[in-house]
Amino acid sequence: MSKFEKKIIIIKPDDWHVHLRDKKILNKVIKYTGQFYKRAVIMPNLKDPITSCFKSIAYRKQILKAMNVNYKFEPLMTCYLTSSTTPKELEFGFFKKIFIAAKLYPHCSTTNSQQGVKAISDINCVLECMEKIGMPLLIHGEEINQNIDIYDRESEFIKNTLEPLRNKFPQLKIVLEHITTKESVEYIKKHDCNYLSGTITPHHLMLNRNDMFSSGIQPYLYCLPILKKNKHQKALRKAIASGDNHFFLGSDTAPHLHKNKIGSFGCAGIFNAPSSFLSYVTIFEEMKALKYLQAFCSENGPKFYNMPINKETITLVKKPYKVLKQINFGKNKIIPFLSGKTLNWSLQK
Ligand code: DOR
Ligand code: ZN
Repeated sequence: MSKFEKKIIIIKPDDWHVHLRDKKILNKVIKYTGQFYKRAVIMPNLKDPITSCFKSIAYRKQILKAMNVNYKFEPLMTCYLTSSTTPKELEFGFFKKIFIAAKLYPHCSTTNSQQGVKAISDINCVLECMEKIGMPLLIHGEEINQNIDIYDRESEFIKNTLEPLRNKFPQLKIVLEHITTKESVEYIKKHDCNYLSGTITPHHLMLNRNDMFSSGIQPYLYCLPILKKNKHQKALRKAIASGDNHFFLGSDTAPHLHKNKIGSFGCAGIFNAPSSFLSYVTIFEEMKALKYLQAFCSENGPKFYNMPINKETITLVKKPYKVLKQINFGKNKIIPFLSGKTLNWSLQK
């Protein structure tokens, strides 16, 4: 990294957690990820989820077709686990590099998770196989139960599901995705090993639950896991500022049409691709931790996945960057995170 904070040169980052959707939305949003990132882990929770090698190959083709030559990145595909997933399908997909990892959505935990897993014991043979072949398990870590408060879903998941799962499969590589709590930070730090890491989103680093209820309700800040108390936000910020290499970038950019964000069924998800990377830069600067920016954005992820670190670099300059206001879709639109706001860092073209 350059000594002068007016300009930063770092290895080109990767985004280890991205929702691109398909068809028209995919075509419109893809360039924002391609603008900043070299590789991106693509979430499989389409309406018709990516549950097989066959579907994954077709989806990857669709992604590549939607890409513009100027905004290219490598999509890394994942398999959506259901109670019918077979070890054979996963093993084949992993060895043929069709899948980089498999995603566990607890049943009805978030967008398009109706086919998610009801009980971990339903996928024991799949997890055993993943542990054996070294295939990472990406977890949406929330315990879904009407008796559990929405703000406690993540910590209950760690106690009731993650801890027993890790005891049963100690060498299974796990990413606890989009962590939002102090308990998750502590859990990952305590189990300092090569088998467990966590990704952190820019919105959970920048905001807390007060922001969701300021000047009325803010449907655009509704995501899952939901924004938590300020003490949790602080713990996440401290975790990245500590330079601990068990944490890395996963933006969880998740576009939804405006009508679906504000309708009577408001979808969870924040579309942050136009500003995610520059938001991370801002946060590291605020935390006086710019020296760890490159590790978080470009090194810790590939190390976890046993992949090479990118060769390209990107240059950031301390120049105001106005975040895109909206993307139009005929009569509809998608409004990005920090819409119309100004960040202090820009990409040097
Ligand atoms: O807020 C979220 N949106 N959280 C998720 O886990 C899924 C995502 C989506 O797909 O919209
Ligand atoms: Zn997600």
